Amino acid sequence: MNQMVINGVNSQTFVAANIRRTEKFYTDALGLKVVKRTVHHLDERLPVVTFGFPGFPGEPARGETITYIEWNPIFYMMPEKGFVDPEATHRGVSSPRVGDPKGRWGAGTNHHLALHVPDRNGLLKWKRRLTDLGVHVTGPYNRHYFHAIYLRDPDGAIIEIATSEPGFGHDEAVLGSGFRAQPKENLIGGRDELSVAAETWPEPVESITPHFALRGFHHITSISGNAERTEKFFVETVGLRLIKKTDYLDEKGGTHFYYACDDNLSPGSVLTFFGLPGYKSGRLGTGLSHHFTLQVENDAALKHEHGRLQRLGIDVSGIQNSLYSTLFHFRDPDGHICALSTPSNYATDEDADRLGEKLCLSEELEKDRTAIERHIAYRPAPVPTLEN
Ligand SMILES: [Fe+2]
Repeated sequence: MNQMVINGVNSQTFVAANIRRTEKFYTDALGLKVVKRTVHHLDERLPVVTFGFPGFPGEPARGETITYIEWNPIFYMMPEKGFVDPEATHRGVSSPRVGDPKGRWGAGTNHHLALHVPDRNGLLKWKRRLTDLGVHVTGPYNRHYFHAIYLRDPDGAIIEIATSEPGFGHDEAVLGSGFRAQPKENLIGGRDELSVAAETWPEPVESITPHFALRGFHHITSISGNAERTEKFFVETVGLRLIKKTDYLDEKGGTHFYYACDDNLSPGSVLTFFGLPGYKSGRLGTGLSHHFTLQVENDAALKHEHGRLQRLGIDVSGIQNSLYSTLFHFRDPDGHICALSTPSNYATDEDADRLGEKLCLSEELEKDRTAIERHIAYRPAPVPTLEN
């Protein structure tokens, strides 16, 4: 089998209505750390905070990051097609239209991000800790390849925490070799929901110990209105490896396909799609992921993939230099925004051991620092522009 050019998942980007509330949730409740504070590269009025995972003795820290962009919930309407285009982004941020910027998942959007703990005891500790903090948690569910609990971020985006045990290999010798039907007791309607809801860690869990601290990503799950079309796209065009075809456990008639984004099948590098035939489209907005980003090794590999996708007729954006990586965007057949990026280096403009302490701005924006900081602090109403 050919070596994959894509070598992992880089990040997932969400939209928040109040980035300070999001930061408090990720740092205080989930124990992640801020690794960058900056502004969106398409419009400096949009604050951006990126969270990373701590390292552990004996294990290298995983490099995946979660980024949140704040979208003013009162004044700004999200551009119809999402902000990947500078013009559409500026129009959206400049246009004072009262509306509901809330996202809604559907075909062509993300469904959830799963973070990773090693074992089921860790999962139960998270359930107890988060429940005691007032976060509603469901599960632990047996997902056949892992065990999982579910919660929501402060805007309603679904976050899962999943175990590495028992893994993808226990029900087929060759991963992705055929459809694996799920046992009835794992499926909706066949589970004992009351017993699941009642199970938790017996003691309060006030601090996060290395045993159950979040290790990185487990998988990212999005929704496809046509599972076969999505499979063809991600395997034949993007170049991922199909590792599991099975049932969607929470909706009768749905499928769940898993794809590996690197050669060693590590938990952080898995994309999955619920196949819900003919499902209604979603809408980007707060409480939903905006896009996920896959990773290649360096600039040369990125350029190579950009050219290759273009030659295959995929509509790709130009290659952009953000401050911390080089990337381009494309869409899957349902319209989901995806990006391909070089590895992020957040230590280019602040010390590696003091990441996230200051607002980092590009050289061109540095002269506007005071205005940008004031805008982020006070979030004033936008000034109407002529095109309204
Ligand atoms: Fe999941």
